[in-house]
Amino acid sequence: MRPESLGYLVVNTASLDDWARYATGQVGMQTADRTSKTLALRMDDRKQRLCVRENGGEGIEVFGWEMANADAMQAMAARLEKAGVTVTPGPRALADERRVTDLIIAHDPLGQRLEFFHGAEVAPDDFIPGRVHSGFRTGPLGIGHVVITVEKAGDLRPFYVDVLGFALSDYYFDPFEACFFHVNPRHHSFAFIATGKRGYHHVMMEHWSFDDVGQGLDLALQVEGRIGVTLGRHCADYVTSFYTNTPSSFMIEHGWGGASIDPGTWVATHRKEGPSLWGHERSWMTPEGKAAARRLAIRNASDGVRKPVQVVEGNYRLNPGACPWWDAVKAQSGRGS
Ligand SMILES: [Fe+2]
Repeated sequence: MRPESLGYLVVNTASLDDWARYATGQVGMQTADRTSKTLALRMDDRKQRLCVRENGGEGIEVFGWEMANADAMQAMAARLEKAGVTVTPGPRALADERRVTDLIIAHDPLGQRLEFFHGAEVAPDDFIPGRVHSGFRTGPLGIGHVVITVEKAGDLRPFYVDVLGFALSDYYFDPFEACFFHVNPRHHSFAFIATGKRGYHHVMMEHWSFDDVGQGLDLALQVEGRIGVTLGRHCADYVTSFYTNTPSSFMIEHGWGGASIDPGTWVATHRKEGPSLWGHERSWMTPEGKAAARRLAIRNASDGVRKPVQVVEGNYRLNPGACPWWDAVKAQSGRGS
């Protein structure tokens, strides 16, 4: 009875105009609705997935976790209350604002507002991306994943695992401590990084086509200071991505090729490869920090760490084996799986 997916987010900003330009022109979302102080954005068949509030703030005000139905939402309310967490029923007006049938409100141990909802409204008209691209991988996987920073890793893990029912996907300690959690076949829908400071790191949105990411990279390179993390590939979920800075002091990761796991059989492991197979230079790191991260990735390369690309029906074409030498090597070593 855990949430099914990350269903929506509400973010704070000082500039709605900046967000409107960024969300449509860079990310490729669609403006669903706009008032003087709010912006509602679509990324699929839902009426909205991201709400932006111009209130002078930054970061992510609300994580909206989707429950299967009303019973599951009430079961979550009971579970939270049993754990001593205050649960508030969402007023009708708020449910209408969120475009859902019903919701409850609670806060995690660090004060993060969480909403658990069911019955998201589907738009009658097609999604029209703000820039031409082939769509986002959402549906039962939700909008993607959200990553926050915390002071200490122990601050949140018991709540998300024992109370909310999130399952640990992986964790690592080098070059920083991080824990990843899944609620569906997406490798992680939520993660935290122990940096010594509470904050919002990034939201990952996964594109359908690999070229959607590369074409977004070209757009980002036109804007001074837009890129937060360069192109690279993650060890944990195999996503190839780059990150841009949003107008809300966190980043959006523009990804492709995320792995699907089987939550029924998945066993969490301690990952020693660090965050990335290659690339992903973090703009804010010191030269020493960048050099250390690069050494870790180069060690991965020399250790032979290679992962197959993760594709879905319709976004790849399988070439026939065309090199007898490689086919023979592959057959002997089991490589290429
Ligand atoms: Fe990510």
